[in-house]
Amino acid sequence: MNPSHEARATSTVSFAVNGELRNVRVHPMERLLDVLRNELGLTGAKEGCGEGECGSCSVLMDGLLVNSCLVPVAQADGSNVVTIEGIAARSLLHPLQQAFLESGGAQCGICTPGMILAAVHLLEKKPQPTPAEIREGLAGNLCRCTGYTQIFEAVAKAVQPRVAR
Ligand code: FES
Ligand code: FES
Repeated sequence: MNPSHEARATSTVSFAVNGELRNVRVHPMERLLDVLRNELGLTGAKEGCGEGECGSCSVLMDGLLVNSCLVPVAQADGSNVVTIEGIAARSLLHPLQQAFLESGGAQCGICTPGMILAAVHLLEKKPQPTPAEIREGLAGNLCRCTGYTQIFEAVAKAVQPRVAR
């Protein structure tokens, strides 16, 4: 096959995004981040570094936290992807979103979707994390604005209602 022709070859990739089956016709090596943002209009995942270092592009794929800037979309075929757009229950913010809002955990907002999804992932594994476990759980996500204190407070705050029950 002519190499330039091969470079443009596309195929259909099918995966669930926030509970809805989506079929996209794209080059299989296109980044999941770009497919989410450009093909599916889900712009919550942000591009920070584009190199797997900052976590701002984080999404959940089959329950695992992944940097979508590093995932060729072909790898997502048949998977279940959750983005920040998928965690709220209709018009109600997810408790972590509400806690970030109340604690000032979001400033410029670039890191926020990834931070919240990292926290969702953490709380699924450890519903009652210690402060050290919260820091560790978010260690792959960088923030240039907040100094992290409000972010850690927000996650702790989202945990508190469960403690009170
Ligand atoms: Fe993906 Fe930074 S943009 S890890
Ligand atoms: Fe700006 Fe975290 S709020 S990078």
